[in-house]
Amino acid sequence: MTLTASIDVTARILHLLGILVWMGHNYANVIQNPTFKPVQPAEPRAMIAAMKREHGTFRYASLVVLATGVYMLWFRHLLVGALTLSGPSIAIGLGVWMGFIMVANLWFVLWPNQKKVLGFVTASDDERIRCSRITFLSSRTNTILSIATVFFMITGAHGLFLYT
Ligand code: HEM
Repeated sequence: MTLTASIDVTARILHLLGILVWMGHNYANVIQNPTFKPVQPAEPRAMIAAMKREHGTFRYASLVVLATGVYMLWFRHLLVGALTLSGPSIAIGLGVWMGFIMVANLWFVLWPNQKKVLGFVTASDDERIRCSRITFLSSRTNTILSIATVFFMITGAHGLFLYT
């Protein structure tokens, strides 16, 4: 196997590992908190430290997913086709755009609010409770989008006949 092909395979494995970490967290959250429960004003300190680690891990896993995904598209000369939803790249392109929305939702909606919920940024109890509702909805949005995203991601390799 050539070096560039090995990098492509490595990118694919890292992409999947990143998804396991990131989406694994989301699905565990669905089981742990099936319905919205507002954050408690005084969370124990040890719990907050554990959550900080956990959130950091899955947030950065999302960047691994983004970087490896864009790399694979670039390496396979599919980047423009996927982004413009052209020809046979339409399916993966839809998945990619949903993936972008998921990453943006995580970093620009969930994370700024989560910082207040977890107490990394000072906020009143009322504000933290309000933010915990936003993080709940943001997390659930990504969980739902992930189902469609995985479908479109695997279509290229396993189901393109659906679109030809
Ligand atoms: C953030 C932007 C993303 C980009 C640019 C991207 C790009 C890619 C690319 C190029 C592949 C290789 C497809 C193939 O080999 O046929 C792939 C595979 C895959 N992606 Fe993504 N992806 C992104 C996000 C996601 C997300 C959010 C998920 C899950 C929720 C996901 C799940 C998968 C899966 C399961 C595969 C394996 C497909 C297979 O082997 O059949 N990706 N992705």
